[in-house]
Amino acid sequence: MVKIVIKSKIRDFNKVIHVDGDKSLSIRSLLVGSQSYGLCTIQNLPMSGDILSTISGLRKLGVKILLKNNSSLIYGNGLNGFNYKKNILINAGNSGTFARLLLGLLIKCPYEIKIVGDPSLSKRDFLRIISPLEKFGAQFKYKNKGRLPLKILGSKFLKPINYFEKRGSAQCKSSIILAALNTPGKTIINAKKSRDHTELLLKHLNLPIKVIRKSDYDVIEVTGEKQFKSFNYTIPGDISSSAFFIVLTLLSKNSKLKIKNVNINPSRAGFIKIINTMGARVKFLNKKKICGELVADIIVKSQKNFKSINCPVKFNSNAIDEFLIIFLLASKASGTSSFRKLEELNKKESPRLKLASKILKKMGVKVKLGKGSIKIFGNPYLKLEKKITINNYYKDHRIFMTSVVAALTLGGKWTIEDMESHTSSFPSFMRILRKIGYKF
Ligand code: S3P
Repeated sequence: MVKIVIKSKIRDFNKVIHVDGDKSLSIRSLLVGSQSYGLCTIQNLPMSGDILSTISGLRKLGVKILLKNNSSLIYGNGLNGFNYKKNILINAGNSGTFARLLLGLLIKCPYEIKIVGDPSLSKRDFLRIISPLEKFGAQFKYKNKGRLPLKILGSKFLKPINYFEKRGSAQCKSSIILAALNTPGKTIINAKKSRDHTELLLKHLNLPIKVIRKSDYDVIEVTGEKQFKSFNYTIPGDISSSAFFIVLTLLSKNSKLKIKNVNINPSRAGFIKIINTMGARVKFLNKKKICGELVADIIVKSQKNFKSINCPVKFNSNAIDEFLIIFLLASKASGTSSFRKLEELNKKESPRLKLASKILKKMGVKVKLGKGSIKIFGNPYLKLEKKITINNYYKDHRIFMTSVVAALTLGGKWTIEDMESHTSSFPSFMRILRKIGYKF
């Protein structure tokens, strides 16, 4: 375990940076590439923990993957072209997205495959995936209330399903879409709005997917068993990683940052809508479409005043990974901010809503925590002088990075444990901090 000690704020900076490639798009392009026929080239895959778990899991299933400088080569064997053997064990590490999406692709496996994960992933709910995949015809074995470790056994006799995804979980929706690719006939999903990367990727590849957009739900129809050719794909920067540098810049003095080529898909950019409603003036420049996804440069400057927000619940799923850093901004806003219907936040890599409340209290911020809600009593004059230790946070990468941003902008003497946690999604985080001038 490595700890980091931060005793001073970051100095003024004016820089152009690139953040690591988007985690959701990386995992999807690897998984979908593994089902194509031929050689896929993926540019800008991040070498983060979650992506390395995905690559090693796919290799165990017989998929050849070569990693060259910035391009990765995936040798797809076609739909359901995995090389199944007895006793395959796949370790998904910290990655809920990999584990849940992969299960969708294993719907036809002829032998049991065991999936395990790290202690944080082993606490997370898999019933949300098990229940729709059982409807297709797969079987599961597990001991602990649908948590990992679990075993999946696929079926030759799959049938398409009609499913209502009510949580707004993109992982759940995507797992069903991937299972539908391998299933004869038409699967129909009524899915509460969530990030739509899987749908966009399949459309980009001209696969038989139809999306009818309604106000709260999308109706998604997928016709299965259509083989497809390999493809080339470029991964843009991750908006969830950018969020830490955006808030760092907003809360620092006299600083400016340009973040190049970030994925700003509207189903992911709820964070920008929320902070701009709070008075931030974050801008997008050079918007363009790359492989079906919207990409832009992000421009952000330091600011002094932020307003509180009564956060509309319609933004929840579009900003689900950014709430920790949004809460930090809310603690410096004038007035009381409220966030509701965020039960899902307690089901992430750590119980984030509960831990956010604990950490904000340690910082001297007044908060009121409900079951799925939090009220943050902001203080624009918040300055810290005391010692703060951040530990026992399930090695959640986003708690680590939020704490570092708090330490670099609010002052105090911080000791933050488990520094290596950030590499699961954003391995360049510390290197970029050095680049913009912080000396550790
Ligand atoms: C993800 C979906 C979200 C998000 C996760 C990545 C994805 O999870 O929190 O980091 O790539 O589909 P849920 O689908 O469980 O909300």
